[in-house]
Amino acid sequence: MRFVGYRLVAPFYETMRNFFFPSISKAQREFHRLDPKLVTKLAVVGGGSGDILNPLLEKFKNATIYFIEPSESMMEKAKKRFGTSRRIFFKEEYMEDINLEDIDVMVLPFVLDIIPERKMKAVAKSVIVSVKHKGFILFSDFVQKQDAFSKLKMLILYLIFLPFRGKLQMSLPDYNLFFGNFKHKLVSEKNFSNKTVTSRLYQVYKD
Ligand SMILES: C[S@@+](CC[C@H](N)C(=O)[O-])C[C@H]1O[C@@H](n2cnc3c(N)ncnc32)[C@H](O)[C@@H]1O
Repeated sequence: MRFVGYRLVAPFYETMRNFFFPSISKAQREFHRLDPKLVTKLAVVGGGSGDILNPLLEKFKNATIYFIEPSESMMEKAKKRFGTSRRIFFKEEYMEDINLEDIDVMVLPFVLDIIPERKMKAVAKSVIVSVKHKGFILFSDFVQKQDAFSKLKMLILYLIFLPFRGKLQMSLPDYNLFFGNFKHKLVSEKNFSNKTVTSRLYQVYKD
């Protein structure tokens, strides 16, 4: 089944995003101390219109990249830009349905915030199956802060995305519902925009 929610916003998504939340693209370009020589298989989930692919292709020169995005319109934009790259495999599907193996780095760029809490377990399961033992999760997203200004910014975000999500959401999901499903260690963390946006590198352990 195709995800049509972003059809309306896809043409101007990046302009809107960069205007309201310029730190999103900064967080997406944060690779911490990942050694590109050790990364041969990378997956980016909920990659949107694909501007994240540029820094990923530049940084991880030896990697094959699986680009997973359920919205047809977002995917079209990404393919228009990078469809000729032999290093990218485009998969128009939901995160909970991905079926990959031995991924060195799974990139989750501002996608967990859109996953309903009731789906977090299924999503965590498909991610964990796909990432190899001692592989990494590169997570970037909003963090809920309690001060009034941060709450207002978050509210603006959710109001902008209301027509596409089809529901009014006032706060972020609890990311522990995702990370609580597998063994991992936080390797490093960088925060942006007065700590309303974070980029975190986790290492995954399987036994
Ligand atoms: C807020 S946008 C972020 C896009 C891009 N990563 C960025 O940072 O600009 C969330 C993206 O996740 C996608 N998405 C929504 N539900 C998803 C799911 N269940 N699995 C994977 N991607 C999903 C949407 O289509 C959308 O492109």
